[in-house]
Amino acid sequence: MSITLNSPLDMHLHLRDGDMLKTVAPLSSSSFAGAIIMPNLVPPVSTKEELIAYKKRIEEACDNSSFTPYMTLFFKPSYTKEFLESVKDELTAIKLYPAGITTNSEGGVSGFDVEELRPTLEAMSELEIPLCIHGETNGFVMDREAEFVSIYEKLASAFPNLTIIMEHITTKASVEALDRFDNLYATITLHHLMITLDDVAGGMLQPHLFCKPIAKRPEDREALRKVALEAHPKVMFGSDSAPHPQHAKESCGCAAGVFTAPIALQVLTELFVEHSTVKNLQAFVSDNALKIYKNIEVPKKTIRLEKKTFVVPPKYGTVVPMYASETIAYSIVE
Ligand code: NCD
Ligand code: ZN
Repeated sequence: MSITLNSPLDMHLHLRDGDMLKTVAPLSSSSFAGAIIMPNLVPPVSTKEELIAYKKRIEEACDNSSFTPYMTLFFKPSYTKEFLESVKDELTAIKLYPAGITTNSEGGVSGFDVEELRPTLEAMSELEIPLCIHGETNGFVMDREAEFVSIYEKLASAFPNLTIIMEHITTKASVEALDRFDNLYATITLHHLMITLDDVAGGMLQPHLFCKPIAKRPEDREALRKVALEAHPKVMFGSDSAPHPQHAKESCGCAAGVFTAPIALQVLTELFVEHSTVKNLQAFVSDNALKIYKNIEVPKKTIRLEKKTFVVPPKYGTVVPMYASETIAYSIVE
């Protein structure tokens, strides 16, 4: 049996820069038609010039021209309406990080004072620029996302016309928040559909499964699976594939991020087939995103998958992928 996906999209992707970009970009551009590119470089992408130059480097690194990088800026409360108007045509969304909460987010937001954020968020709302948020407080690690739900709610009600994407949700609490506000949407990663904290730290510590937000409880994974497998119209696939060199993962002070780009569609297909919901996969990996992000156009690109085993390479360059050296059941075929 073969499964055909039309223009699959990865709505949350880290491509990095330099040699790492050259290694990882082709692994996304070979299986996806486009991706939302996260801006957490060092320094973060926060000017029009940086954004345009980064987009060009990404296009050069993809050996496949039918891949569209949907660019984002790193949110700053100092962005004015004039600035946003001038950059609107070059970007797809703006990504907000709480200060210091994850990799390269030191220049993010602290406090979440609605009045302080109002000028920028109102301008984004008027200009119809979606806001992507890494929703974690700096509380106890297992509670950070659930604690952030009240901040999502505060922003969703203060800016009712602003499209707010709760990035890489990991909890039942976030799933439940989705239906309470018309303007709240979410991305879900592959790894949070597959693992719980037990897989990360229940036995020998697995650094390649360590990420932010950390994987949670079985009941959280169940809630995520439910909305993903039914392709709930407010959720979409965003891998949060986040490559780090092997030495930064297998070290004392392990960097957060799971690298899934080369296996994401294959493993998603297996999960959806296993649950007899493969008819919903197209909506989860593409159609829902096009409806949520009204400002993207997607190149036509057909990806075909077959039930044919694929042995995941132990490494891509210096990066160890999820399921390294394991055999997965589906392959992408030409
Ligand atoms: C991401 C990274 O490495 O850039 N890490 C992660 O654990 N997900 C940043 C992020 O999305 O939090
Ligand atoms: Zn991310």
